[in-house]
This record gives sequence, C-alpha cells and structure tokens, in this order.
Amino acid sequence: MCGIVGYVGTQQAAPLLIEGLSRLEHRGYDSAGVAVLGQTAGLKVAKLAGRVRDLDDSLPKRFSGRAGIGHTRWATHGPANDVNAHPHIDGKGQVAVVHNGIIDNAAALRTRLTDDGVDLASDTDTEVLAHLVARSEEDTLEGKVVDALSVIEGTYGLAVMHADFPDRIVVARNGSPLIIGVGDKEMHVASDLAALVRYTTTVAHLDDGELATITASGFTTFRPDGTATQRAATLLDIDVSEYDAGEHESYMHKEMLEQPAAAERVLRGRLDERFGTGHLGGLNMDARETRAIRRVKILGCGSAYYVGQMGASLLEELARIPADAEAASEFRYRNPIIEPDTLYVAVSQSGETLDTLLAVQEIRRKGGRVIGLVNVVGSAIAREVDGGIYLHSGPEVAVASTKALTNMFIGFALLALQLGRVRDLSIADGKRLIAGLTRLPGQIEEVLAAEQDLAAIARDLADAESLFFVGRVRGFPVAREGAQKFKEISYRHAEAYQTSELKHGPLALISPEVPTVAIVPDDELADRNIGALHEIAARGGPLVVVTHAGVDLGGVPCRRIDVPRNERELDPILLTIPLQVLAYHAALTLGHDIDKPRNLAKSVTVE
Ligand code: G6P
Repeated sequence: MCGIVGYVGTQQAAPLLIEGLSRLEHRGYDSAGVAVLGQTAGLKVAKLAGRVRDLDDSLPKRFSGRAGIGHTRWATHGPANDVNAHPHIDGKGQVAVVHNGIIDNAAALRTRLTDDGVDLASDTDTEVLAHLVARSEEDTLEGKVVDALSVIEGTYGLAVMHADFPDRIVVARNGSPLIIGVGDKEMHVASDLAALVRYTTTVAHLDDGELATITASGFTTFRPDGTATQRAATLLDIDVSEYDAGEHESYMHKEMLEQPAAAERVLRGRLDERFGTGHLGGLNMDARETRAIRRVKILGCGSAYYVGQMGASLLEELARIPADAEAASEFRYRNPIIEPDTLYVAVSQSGETLDTLLAVQEIRRKGGRVIGLVNVVGSAIAREVDGGIYLHSGPEVAVASTKALTNMFIGFALLALQLGRVRDLSIADGKRLIAGLTRLPGQIEEVLAAEQDLAAIARDLADAESLFFVGRVRGFPVAREGAQKFKEISYRHAEAYQTSELKHGPLALISPEVPTVAIVPDDELADRNIGALHEIAARGGPLVVVTHAGVDLGGVPCRRIDVPRNERELDPILLTIPLQVLAYHAALTLGHDIDKPRNLAKSVTVE
C-alpha cells in the first residue's frame, strides 16, 4: 500500500519518479502523483486516480525540475479521486507533501485549520501537513517540518518540498519505512528498496523518530531536537536482477520457480546434523529459556496466518508444545491474555503488515516475548521483536505469496526441531527431519516440473464459479492456503473446509458445477479422506486429489496430482506447491493481472 519516491540531482526528476512509482505498483494503489521543483520554475504537481502509466501520459510537456517527490496512494481518508491523490499542497502552492501512514488527529487539525481560514482542498489526513509546514514561522525547511510534526499524532513516512528551498527534500519516518539511496551527484529516497535498486544499492534506512535532509550532494540525518544522528549509508549485498520479472510473464511465476533455491537459502547454516537439531542463533534464547516455553501463539495475516497454522501443527507434533495460530488482525481486539511462558511468533513477509505489527507491540507492552519469521531485513516487525528467523526468500513482489510462504513453513520446521530437541524429540527423529528438510528443495523442484500437467487441470477449474478445498488436520491449513491463493488471483469463490465437516453442511452444495480440490496425504487419515471423496463423487462433484503415489483412491473418478513423499510432518509444504500452480494457471486462463489482483495490496499498512 502507499509508496513514496523522491529524487534530487542533475537529471530531470519526473521520468525517474515515474519509473520509481512503477516499481511500487505491486504494493497496491488506486491513485498516483508527482511534484517537481525547479531552481526558478517553482513547484508543479500532477496527480490522478488511476495507474502510474495514466499519470505518465497526463504529464504536461514542460514538467521540469531536478528535484521531485512521487506517491502511489491507497485510499484511507476519502475516496480514490484526483484531489485526494498525493502530493498535497498548501494554499499558495509552495509546499508539497507525500505521506504514508495515518495521522490519527487529522480531524482535529483539519477543524483547527478551517477555523483559521484555511481552505482544505481534499478529504485526506495528509493535506494538513502541507498547510502546517507552510504556516510554520521557522526559517529552515527542516525547522518547518519539525514544527508541523510536533502537533501530529500517528504514523508516517513522508517527504516534503518547498519552493523557497529548491535544492532539498526533507523526509521523516515514524512507523512507515523510508530509505535513502546514494547516487553520484544525486540522491534518491523511497519507501521500498524495489524503487531504488535500479539506481543504487548504497542505502541508509531511517529509524523511527528520525528526519533527513536530502540534496544532490548528500544527506544528513537528525532528530526533531536538531541533534545529528550521523547515519551512514551501506552497500547492500543484493542481486538487482531479483527485482525484475526477467523472462517470466509475471513475478508470481518467477517467484514460484525460485522456491527450490529460496528453500536452500533458509536452511543454509541452520541444520545441526550432529545433534539432529536446528541452529537458529537469531532467537536470542538459551536452552533454559527455550525449555521454559509452555505454549506457542502464532500471529499473521492472510497466507502468513495459514502457514502459521501449519507451523502450529509442526510445533505440537515435534516439540509437543501446545500451539495455535490466530489472525493478527483479530488478536489485538480481544484484550488478549499475555503469559510469560508463552512464546509469541509474528509471521510476515513484508514485516510491515500493520495488524501484525500492532499485535507485536501489544504483546511486548504486556511483557510477552515475541520472535519474528520475517522476510524483509530491517522492516518494522523485524526491528520490534526480541529475536527471530529471517526467511532469506529474496524480494517477493507478487501479491500472492509463494517463496516467502514456503520459507515460513521451513522456518517453523526449524523452530519446532530446536524446541523439540530440548524436550522429548529424540536425536534419531531430529536426524530424520533434518534429512527430510534437506530433500525438500529438490522435491519442490519436482512438483514445479509438472507445471504443464497442473496447468491443464487449472484450465478446467477456471470454468467453475465456485470451488471447495478440503483437507484434514495437517491437510486443513493446506486447503485454506490453496483456497486463499485461488480466490485472490482467479476471483472465483473458493472455500476451504475440513473434509470431516463436509457432511455437516457443505455437502448440500456439491454438484457437477462445484469442483472440490481434496488434500489426501498418505497418512493415518487417508482411509477416512477417501471415504469423503466417494461421498463427493456420488453427488456428481468433480474432484482433483492432491496425494502421494501409491495411495489407492478406491477407483473414485478424479484428476490426480501426486507429490513426492517426505517425512509426514513436512508433507504440508509439498502439498501446497501444486495449489499455487493451479491458482496461477487458473488466473492466467481467465486473463487476470496476476501480480496485482484487484482490491488487494502486497503490504497492508492500514488496519
Ligand atoms: C496481504 C497480502 C497477502 C499476505 C498478507 C500478509 O493481505 O495480500 O498475500 O499474505 O498481506 O502479508 P505479510 O507481508 O505480513 O506476510
């Protein structure tokens, strides 16, 4: 959601801002805008509800300036229209502001400004900032921004330009990421690395409560009281090509196929074969503290929540610790009881999801211990937790999570192994699981190699208006994640159910028009699952069965997908991979924009 870019240097800013904004499109947005500032030409603003390419097409011929800021907006205060799009300006058109986050006291500030005779053009919270900066009597732009922020309550990442200070942009961070990119006689700023890496990989991350001044020749960071924070830029060790879809028709396709390599990365250096355990240095817990854990509570949203349910099963099975997962978006609102001997686990690809971040803050406020399973290094959740496991998936751009989700599962397996081995999990079982984890990347590759066969099944499923995904126990979160993937990119109604619960309701809906994707691993529940398949088939329901080679489905008519066998505890992730491919090819058949599904955002930074 909402993205910020900025540039000061020797080139024309507008094309660079547009390019930067197009790199943020995947985050989800409904409107976009840019402002440029020339040494003499003053401030110019262009913004509209629509796509970045519409904005580019709409830019006037003379839209020059060697400093500029840009924004993609996800509407929160007021509808998505041209006026509410950022940048926002003051009445005289001197100040331009782009802002991510939410100003909690915007209503009071709007009233105060209106009472003072200020005309507010938009419905947004952000606009008050432009007026506050313009009305400040401080001499410097830095002073004016600090002055404005002193009356603001809420979260922000923001960038401000002022016609009287055409050589600079002032940026500030409080709860919403801002990264400065250092170039040669030019400087960039963005809310997401994806917008910077084409230009530079030398970056500085601002901390909450920090501001920075950016000019063509460099940047300085400081606190609101004016003290310098001496933040230095560092050269990132990243593969810039990871931020490009390359040959692939979409990022989701690229990211699905990257899963074997990503899985190897999350395992690297984390398997202790001698003692049959995990080696997770980042947890910041010694054996005694690890043993003292009596319960594990996992929190995440969307796919991170469903993989959290898979993680809870792993923890219960391997470590024999009671564990459950809950949607972080619900948790905070029921005044949760925080227990000192519970380990809380926050799961998030982006590390920015506001519901998850707020849940973490609530737990820590009440004295609980939280660890993170996070992909984006240095993200808000990663900074907030007591320790954690970085996922090392590489950048994930597509809204539908694939390689990050797989690495979340593996992260849970490592955690369960480590927690299990300080309890009752035997060294033999530990070694058995390590061998299983080592086999996983190759087996994921095997599943992906069957893409074309899966695509043929997906093309048939795409015809259905409504589908069921069913599974039991370990297979149920797999069904939930499968339904989630399918609905988010194909826009078909896909509902997950426990196979055992079919007869208590949904069986009434089974018909030749409603296919069921059933998860039937070769485990202790296989016979019962197969019984349910017959009940579905008897009602004419078309079936796709994800199972293991050798499972005798008793002649039930179905399309069969066999995944490789691993240790039973690790089955869920191998059963999940084909469901990603089914969702992907169904969406492709239906001609949807796979990486940017309607109404959804990659990082949901609002409640
Ligand atoms: C959004 C995305 C989902 C994602 C969820 C959690 O809703 O559309 O695909 O699973 O956020 O994101 P996170 O970055 O916290 O893993």
